[in-house]
Amino acid sequence: RKDLVGIEDLSREELEMIYAKAEELKPTLKRSQKKQPILRGYTVVNLFMEPSTRTRLAFEIAATRLSADVITVSGNASSLVKGESLRDTAMNIQALNADIIIMRHSAAGSARYLSRCIDIPVINAGDGAHEHPTQALLDTFTLREKLGKDLRGVKVTILGDILFSRVARSNIWALRKLGAEVTLAGPSTLVPKQFEHFGVTVIHDLREALRDADAVMLLRIQHERQSSTHFPSLGEYTSMFGLNEKRANWLKPGAIIMHPGPINRGVELDSVLADSKRSVILEQVTNGIAVRMAVLYLCAHYAAKHRLA
Ligand code: CP
Repeated sequence: RKDLVGIEDLSREELEMIYAKAEELKPTLKRSQKKQPILRGYTVVNLFMEPSTRTRLAFEIAATRLSADVITVSGNASSLVKGESLRDTAMNIQALNADIIIMRHSAAGSARYLSRCIDIPVINAGDGAHEHPTQALLDTFTLREKLGKDLRGVKVTILGDILFSRVARSNIWALRKLGAEVTLAGPSTLVPKQFEHFGVTVIHDLREALRDADAVMLLRIQHERQSSTHFPSLGEYTSMFGLNEKRANWLKPGAIIMHPGPINRGVELDSVLADSKRSVILEQVTNGIAVRMAVLYLCAHYAAKHRLA
């Protein structure tokens, strides 16, 4: 397909195709390896309307490792602040001969909208609370490395601010398509029972949510997206649901700890655990390059084939 807008759109076979390409490309990330000439002559534009460290850099590194030219535009440095529409911005980037646009935006649905406005591939780097597909791809890629390629029956607990989390939504889609059993945990205001419509289990008791998990995926409390006072304060959240050393003993001995970042150390996760042997957080970050190389390759390949047809 031309774009990567969300995991909801993808089949299990498409997910497997991305993992296979990421596995093939991951060894090329070693410092001793030369850049791959796969996207030589391509121009990739990173359009980031919200802050980012990992996603933006990983896309830049991924595109650079594939020999593409990469240009990053921050929202507040573009003519969007002068009132230019997102559609006009994208059409102008296309007219400037860009080959792929990667976009992060605060509005849910913005990536799909953009993908319909322009002919070149659009890759969603996070749209509001809707989806963050490459995060779920790198998370599930890491789970496959740690727990085996077949995730059927693997138990994953996602703990934290589910309501406002695009990472949670994309991971729920990915994990369900791969046959994993997903439990959502946290306070009822941030993890409403309605999420069970996604085919997951919702638990508000932390001990019960952690007991059988093979992996626990922690999420940051996104106060910037919460406008109502009925959500817990950071202190209240930590006292009830923060993962500390005592509570980590409720996990099985081999269970791994994941986090998409940025971590609020001491809020949703204790520093000791974030830096412990159980944590695969920095491996997730590194895998983000391989997965994004795979996505760039597959979108570019599709677009080239389509132009030839
Ligand atoms: N995980 C993630 O999206 O991090 P950034 O916001 O730093 O890109």
